[in-house]
Amino acid sequence: MTEFPDGFIWGASTASYQIEGAVNEDGRGPSIWDVFCHTPGKVANGDTGDIACDHYHRFHDDIELMARANLNAYRFSIAWPRILPEGTGAPNARGLEFYDRLVDALLEKGIAPWPCLYHWDLPQALQARGGWENRDIADWFADYAEIVAARIGDRAKNWVMLNEPQVTAHRGFAYAMYAPGFADRAKFFAATHHQNLAQGRALARLRAINPQWRLGTVFNLSVPTPESESAADREASRLYDLMWNRNFLDPLFRGHYPEESEADLRGLVKENDLACIRQQIDFLGLNYYCRSFCRWDEKHPLKVARASAPADRPRTCLDWEIYPDGLRQMLLRLRDEYGNPEVYITENGAALEEPETAGGELADDERIAFLQGYLGAMRQAIAEGANVKGYMIWSIIDNFEWAWGYRPRFGLVHVDYRSQARTPKKSYRWYADVARRNALPD
Ligand code: FCB
Repeated sequence: MTEFPDGFIWGASTASYQIEGAVNEDGRGPSIWDVFCHTPGKVANGDTGDIACDHYHRFHDDIELMARANLNAYRFSIAWPRILPEGTGAPNARGLEFYDRLVDALLEKGIAPWPCLYHWDLPQALQARGGWENRDIADWFADYAEIVAARIGDRAKNWVMLNEPQVTAHRGFAYAMYAPGFADRAKFFAATHHQNLAQGRALARLRAINPQWRLGTVFNLSVPTPESESAADREASRLYDLMWNRNFLDPLFRGHYPEESEADLRGLVKENDLACIRQQIDFLGLNYYCRSFCRWDEKHPLKVARASAPADRPRTCLDWEIYPDGLRQMLLRLRDEYGNPEVYITENGAALEEPETAGGELADDERIAFLQGYLGAMRQAIAEGANVKGYMIWSIIDNFEWAWGYRPRFGLVHVDYRSQARTPKKSYRWYADVARRNALPD
């Protein structure tokens, strides 16, 4: 048994578009993910989030599952197009009511709500105005953040601004894998800077309204690794670190971009932008999955192609390498290079291919082994001084995995998408035990 520090938080994370469904209900407007999913060829198997886990109607059941797993925190995201169908303007009362009820239901079960203001479902109406390429989005986002916080901020104390701006920038604007689906260097840098700016504006706005709120943001950080020992691949890996990790970490924690990115950012960064992005946050959410293998690619807008881990390395069904020590390394890097901020692991988990119908408790021993490894690495980092205060698994239930559709399953609980039946897996019992004991079995 390895114990975790007293008061350690155990939770789960989800995102609105991946679980809610009900895309046309109660006045919700379309998001860029509705459009992307309904564009042929963008998502595996033609899957969409139209229905997903039907969480919009079943959230009481899902909260009950979290409560029975002894969780005391839940990070969920607010769907911007439910609150503001046009992205700006008058809020939609029924959208706000949904999150109001969700928060009350969580508190009734003793689970702290950790709302995340943006997990990728940008209102399509804002995409039509340029989306993340338009600098005005920083104000649109801060206005929207204020509306949501005014409604549920009497009960929600911990607030996440953005989920993984680096993933939006890379997969949405440079690798054309995710909505809005571009592969363009200039767009990529605009999306990088405008997300940083929006995050800063919203942080400043919420801080001014209520200094008691605990405000943070969520980064997906990754340990870049050259695919080969060639000088070109090593350079690709260095560039990837710059564009994936440092262009987000440095302005937030140090108040400037790495010098090397300045040429690409010229014209985008205006006076006072950096002062706005450099914010005192109460916590950093870290989503950690795997190392990123990098290969030099002369033709790619960023000059980097994503590669696979060497054939002898273990991996999940998304081809993500299983290498728990990467998490420890990243936490130590935050300790050493970014002032050892208070960190919550806000996502981590394993995608497995599992049957569509559970037929009883699935023995997902692979997931348990994965978690054992990553939680052990996190515990080790804490022993080495990393300031980690909690862990939220991805995810409590199987859900819509973006461009991969429903095939990869990340849940502790199986979802049968035809019947919407929820069936806890073996890992659910395992994780519930870890949370109850605040300790990792040997
Ligand atoms: C992260 C996303 C999350 C989920 C996991 C597997 O990048 O934030 O929505 O899809 O990956």
